[in-house]
Amino acid sequence: MSQEIVKKDIATIAKNLGEEAKKFEGKTILMSGGGGFLGKYIVGTLAYLNDNVFSKPCRVISVDNYITGARHPHFNYQGRPDVLEVWADVTYPLPVREDVHFIINGAGLASPVYYKKYPLETIEGTVFGVKNLLELARKNKDHLEGFLFFSSSEIYGDPDPKAVPTQETYHGYVSSVGPRACYDESKRLGETIATIYEQQYGIPTTIVRPFNVFGPGMSHNDHRVLPMFAFRALNNEPLPVHGDGHQTRTFCYITDAITGFLLVLLKGKPGHPYNIGNDENEISMKDLAELFTSLFDNKISYDLIAYPETYPAGEPQRRCPDVSKARNDLGFTPHVSLKEGLEQFIEWCKNDPSYTQGN
Ligand SMILES: NC(=O)c1ccc[n+]([C@@H]2O[C@H](COP(=O)([O-])OP(=O)(O)OC[C@H]3O[C@@H](n4cnc5c(N)ncnc54)[C@H](O)[C@@H]3O)[C@@H](O)[C@H]2O)c1
Repeated sequence: MSQEIVKKDIATIAKNLGEEAKKFEGKTILMSGGGGFLGKYIVGTLAYLNDNVFSKPCRVISVDNYITGARHPHFNYQGRPDVLEVWADVTYPLPVREDVHFIINGAGLASPVYYKKYPLETIEGTVFGVKNLLELARKNKDHLEGFLFFSSSEIYGDPDPKAVPTQETYHGYVSSVGPRACYDESKRLGETIATIYEQQYGIPTTIVRPFNVFGPGMSHNDHRVLPMFAFRALNNEPLPVHGDGHQTRTFCYITDAITGFLLVLLKGKPGHPYNIGNDENEISMKDLAELFTSLFDNKISYDLIAYPETYPAGEPQRRCPDVSKARNDLGFTPHVSLKEGLEQFIEWCKNDPSYTQGN
């Protein structure tokens, strides 16, 4: 059943992409962070297109150092001739000798608990990672069709309330020495480097700034709020809400998000950043805990707790994207409501042993 949810999601992404997806036909795509939550879905989408749409398959080179990523049976591409999964650390140059047409740079440490634990790896993986992959792009310049850098909505820091919903033109309010700086500042510098390669070398780079994506495949011990709530709820434990619970986020279901990311790669203006998220479901963490409680027939409770030591201080108070640039340039529209997405995600978690047996 839970594998069916993943298969249905991937088919939805392929359908959403429509004719645009044909740009990948017969091409070679390198995906860094291919063992992560988003990477697994992107590799899965390309494998699905090979099986169901393309006459000439694309080739996928998925690289990951598995610092946080992990293999999952629902995303098993082992033994497929069209998908090569390799252990590699993007902090160092990658010895790729074949021609590459698209590079998707998704490697990173996305969860605050992990980037607090590995601050230098976070900086090096992002800054050296983007530079190394852009150098690979330069080697492939004659045939390279797109380079996508995964930045983050965190580059906006804790935005001025007047700048929420946040447009790409907002420059951000970020500390260079604060507890989140390793992530925020390295993503900002990554964007700068990607922009320079576009300006100086004509590499067709685009930048995506995702706003809290969720869905099947997120690890139960990822420490991001939705898998953490799902794990707690399925184990009959109260949901911990940090602080007063008034801080807000928007959550974008995986099918909408992956469609948006791939549209940025395939149709985005070179050198441009794009927000991708769901602009219609901003919710406070307290209301999110209440929504979760209702989805579990009010059989679970939540507690307001002090921020744990493991969590980097200074989290943004409000986070909501303005996605009009992606709507206008790419035809991007998020379709899945928070409630619908959560129902899918919880159904998947219920059937994933790591959520129910806590290993
Ligand atoms: N998921 C979101 O909501 C979200 C929001 C904003 C930004 N992003 C960004 O999108 C990208 C993908 O996010 P995700 O949710 O899939 O995260 P994830 O943590 O699930 O996956 C990232 C993957 O990158 C790998 N990795 C880390 N450092 C590496 C290195 N030096 N070399 C090779 N692999 C390395 C990890 O092992 C992991 O498998 C990240 O760059 C993240 O910062 C994600």
